[in-house]
Amino acid sequence: MTIGIDSIAFSTSKYFLSLETLAKHRDVSYEKYCLGIGQTKMAVFPPNEDIVTIAIDAARKALSSIEDKNAVDLLIFATESSFDLSKSAGIYVHKFLGLREDCRAFDLKQACYSAAAALRLAESYAANNPRSKVLIVGSDVIKYPPSASGEPTQGGAAIAFVVSQNPRILEIEPYAGVHTDDIMDFWRPAHLDNALFDGKLSAYNYLKSLDICLERYFKNSALKLSDIDCACFHSPFGKMARKANNQSFKYKSLDKTLIYSSIIGNSCSASLFICFLSLLDHAKDDLTGKRIGFFSYGSGSVAEFFSGVVRKGYKRELRAEENQKMLADRIEISFSEYEKLYSGEFRDFDKYQNIGSVKLSKIDNYRRIYENIGG
Ligand code: CAA
Repeated sequence: MTIGIDSIAFSTSKYFLSLETLAKHRDVSYEKYCLGIGQTKMAVFPPNEDIVTIAIDAARKALSSIEDKNAVDLLIFATESSFDLSKSAGIYVHKFLGLREDCRAFDLKQACYSAAAALRLAESYAANNPRSKVLIVGSDVIKYPPSASGEPTQGGAAIAFVVSQNPRILEIEPYAGVHTDDIMDFWRPAHLDNALFDGKLSAYNYLKSLDICLERYFKNSALKLSDIDCACFHSPFGKMARKANNQSFKYKSLDKTLIYSSIIGNSCSASLFICFLSLLDHAKDDLTGKRIGFFSYGSGSVAEFFSGVVRKGYKRELRAEENQKMLADRIEISFSEYEKLYSGEFRDFDKYQNIGSVKLSKIDNYRRIYENIGG
């Protein structure tokens, strides 16, 4: 029995800030951002977009190649930037996708690790339910305090993927190396919009966790380093993934995994899988049969290294041109516009465009009202 990723797509904001602009206004050399940190643009969200609208956009694309949408009977929404401590963001997605009423929908949280956690849980579900499809959405928007060292790594995006038996894109292997440890490296108290963090500790713990996870993965799988053909890493910023790659693997394919994230910014739960999509969309060689390593790191912290083997025919399921066009068609904003949007006080829901076909049209007495664009 094979289980894994059957369909995958992503989405992000229609708007971005160039880090050249940010560098100028923060009086920092742009080289620090583009070479030192490895980022050149960051997604910025207007009032009409949030983790739900981009999640619906990504999920609609991921489901477009699924013959029977009614096979989806479990929806897991992975996020660390939820706006509601009670109601699940997944319920809005469930409604706008028109999923069946007896499909479970709920949120899952553990910083940037949650979509990887959802994938691992979905594997057992798919094993026990041969006809079921599980829809996993990872959607996050991340903000740091203005002028904080993390500011150039802000961003946001959503990934959506379907997990099932006989997957068309990637077969997930059963082994893993996991490491959980109580660390205060990154956290967001419930009343705050932006994250608090200890940047140096987080980078240290990311790399330490990678070492530990790899040792456990190799022990559990009886595989060796040379059995892995390329790797994708959680990428809070490109340089972090580069350090991870240099520490353990030195894969040349790393650059291809970072093309999308370097112009989106940190997308937390979506990040690892956007790196995977970036690799699939940009790899010149046929990846069929290649074993790909995945390293997920969620501050706090839980980390996991696992692997998957690319399926024959995977290229038919890709939408590289559409993804590249979506990013090329984004609109650049000025620094003053960025400051206005960052503050969250500007609430004109009609002024900005949406990337997909659903918008947040108002917030009425704390109720978020979403609608399909054009009715
Ligand atoms: N030209 C080229 N390179 C330059 C440069 C210049 N003019 N100026 C500086 N650099 C280089 C530095 O040498 C340094 O390189 P190395 O890391 O290779 O030594 C790099 O740019 C960064 O410089 P600093 O260390 O001085 O940067 P900083 O302290 O201002 O910020 C950071 C770096 C601490 C990681 C910061 O981005 C941050 O706090 N980010 C948020 C936390 C984070 O993302 N942590 C990652 C692990 S946690 C995680 O993965 C979960 C998550 O998603 C948040």
